[in-house]
Parts: sequence; C-alpha cells; structure tokens
Amino acid sequence: MAETRVGVLTGGGDAPGLNPAIKGLVYRGSELGLEVVGLFDGWRSLMNPAPEVLKLDREMVRRWDRDGGTNLGSSRTNPFRLVNEQGESIDRSQEVLENIQKLQLDALVVCGGEDTLGVAARLAPRGVKIVGVPKTIDKDLNGTDYTLGFDTALRNVSEVIERSRTPAGSHGWVQIVEVMGRHAGHLALWSGVAGQSHLILIPEHPFRYERVFHLLRERLGESDLSRGLGQRPRYSVIVVAEGACAQDGELVTIDDRHDAFGHVRLGGIGEVLARRIASETPYEARAVVLGHPQRGGPPSPIDRIMGMMFGARAAEAVAAKQFGTMVSARGVAPACELSLVEIETVQGKINLVDVERYYDTERYHLKAIGM
Ligand code: F6P
Repeated sequence: MAETRVGVLTGGGDAPGLNPAIKGLVYRGSELGLEVVGLFDGWRSLMNPAPEVLKLDREMVRRWDRDGGTNLGSSRTNPFRLVNEQGESIDRSQEVLENIQKLQLDALVVCGGEDTLGVAARLAPRGVKIVGVPKTIDKDLNGTDYTLGFDTALRNVSEVIERSRTPAGSHGWVQIVEVMGRHAGHLALWSGVAGQSHLILIPEHPFRYERVFHLLRERLGESDLSRGLGQRPRYSVIVVAEGACAQDGELVTIDDRHDAFGHVRLGGIGEVLARRIASETPYEARAVVLGHPQRGGPPSPIDRIMGMMFGARAAEAVAAKQFGTMVSARGVAPACELSLVEIETVQGKINLVDVERYYDTERYHLKAIGM
C-alpha cells in the first residue's frame, strides 16, 4: 500500500493529552498506511526556511501516553500575522504552503485550540489537507464537548483548592484561588465544585462585590469573635476565573500587550478581590494565582484515553480523506461519541458555561446542589 505522509503539529498552550493523541495517530495510522512525521513548535515549524521533521513510528511514541505537555514543542505562532523587524504585521502563510510541499506532506494533523485550529481553518480552503484535534484546558472550543487537557487541569486545580483549606482554616482567612480559562469558566466552575470551594466566580456572570461580602458574612459571621468556636467555619475558599469581572469593573490583565492572535494576558482579579475583601469586611484575605502548573504534570486517565482516541480517529479521517474537519466528542468523556465536524466550526464562537443550566447567580456556585 502506498504510504500517505502526514505531518503532525501541536500549537498554543501545552496541554496534557497531546502526546497520547500523537501515539494514537501513529499507532492507528500504522495500520492504515500512514507515515507520520512530527513538526516542531506548532506553526512556527512551517515558517522555517529549512524545516526539520521527526520520524514518528510505533517504537518512538510507545511511551508517549504518559507524558504531559507536548514532546513536539508548541508556540503561539500565527502565520497570517507575524511581526517583522519594522514592527509591521505581515502575512507569511504562503511560506507554510511552500514548506508543506517541500516536506512532501500529503496531509496535516493539527492539534490545537481556537487559534491554532483557526489557522488550519484558513489554510484548508487553500488546498491544505487538514484534520484537527481539539485541545485546550479551557474547554472553550466550539464544536466539541471535550478538549484535551481539561480533565488533567481539573485534577490539578481541585487538588490545590483542597490543599488551600488547611492554611486558610488554621489562620482563619479567606483564600482566593485564581484559575485559568480565559473567557470561559468551565475550569473554575468544575474545579470549584470538586474542591468544594465556598464561592465560584466565572466570566459568564459578572459578580457583585456586595453579594460576595454578604455571602462571606453569612458563612463566617460578623467579626473575628464569632468565629473559631466550632459553631461555624472560620475560613472560606473562593475560586475566581482569571476572566471573571465585577458588574461595575473591568477585565484585569497582566499588562497591555497582545499575542499573535490578539489576546491580552489575563491575570490579577484574585488580588483585586482580596484587597476589596480586606478593606471592606472584617476578614483577612490572601490570593494565589495558579498559573501554568495548572497545565502541568502527567495526563489524567481521561486525557490519556481521549488523547489516544482522538489521535486514532484523526488517523482514520486522514486515511478516508475526510479533510477540512476536526475530531469532535459528544457526551461525557470517555464514554462519548466521536465524529468529525467542519473545521470552520472553531472560528468566531467559543463554548461558554451555560449559566442558565449550571450556575446559581445568587449563591455563586453550581446550581441545585444546595451550597
Ligand atoms: O488557553 C490556555 C491558557 O492556559 C489559558 O487558560 C490562559 O489564559 C492562557 O493559556 C495563558 O497564556 P500563555 O500560555 O501564553 O501564558
């Protein structure tokens, strides 16, 4: 059987589950006559005048299912908008097309989120034969119910919430845990439920400071003296999504720089909230920003399973020449239906928490569990 030569790349923020996906692609691909080569650092690899590839066979990827991050490296490169030495933004997508030819790639498997797959969606009409694999710890991608990395990040964040309870309880303070997710609150909401935080603030529903203070008073009592006598908790844990914002406030950002896809880096709402609590209530407050370790460590069992299944499904799509598509999961991982959706589905819309269905806008928590 004549082999189809497939390049695979991983772009955007790293996520546990990417390496299992590559293993699934290579293993299933080896049964379907695919020769798989790895491209380094996302789309950046195809901007290189002398692009290198890594031959990926069963022996090479045999142990990749247990590796976090991405063994191919990643970057947030946008070939449609690269900044030159004069500071001008230029379109270098033609170089990507030329490199695909130079490397004699018959097809590309692109593992990424909204941005990396958005580039894929713009290249597909120009003749690039692409199959996408969805990944992002934010779980905000349109067209799929699961994105690789979410479950591991959920595990990582839930563990920290759980562990923040003892210092907060011992000292009697309000612990704020700031969680990633960009403009979506999936990670904050579900880690807050799993770690049993007292309050959860998500981007989809702007919060009111007065309401947060009221809910704290309700739990902790009015003063230091009313706490610590075994009658009521003497601490509280609040999970706040980095993209959450008060009704009368603004998004809090690390600085005013934008990345190649036009995103600002979010961060700092936890500290803003801590200062307001400390100045407007009787309670001491501390904030921690969990940052990149949320995406760190070995993939969870769900991310291993979903990664390998997504990768294998992508191999089948390539073998069947079902290009211009993305692998999609419907239902709760891992017992879910896999199918293919048009790759353009990822553009122009993100998947947010369904507030009506899941979020209690009075208690700032998951609906209908009596928190
Ligand atoms: O999209 C994944 C993510 O981890 C977001 O949750 C977060 O806002 C962003 O990436 C951080 O960007 P960077 O990895 O460039 O610091």
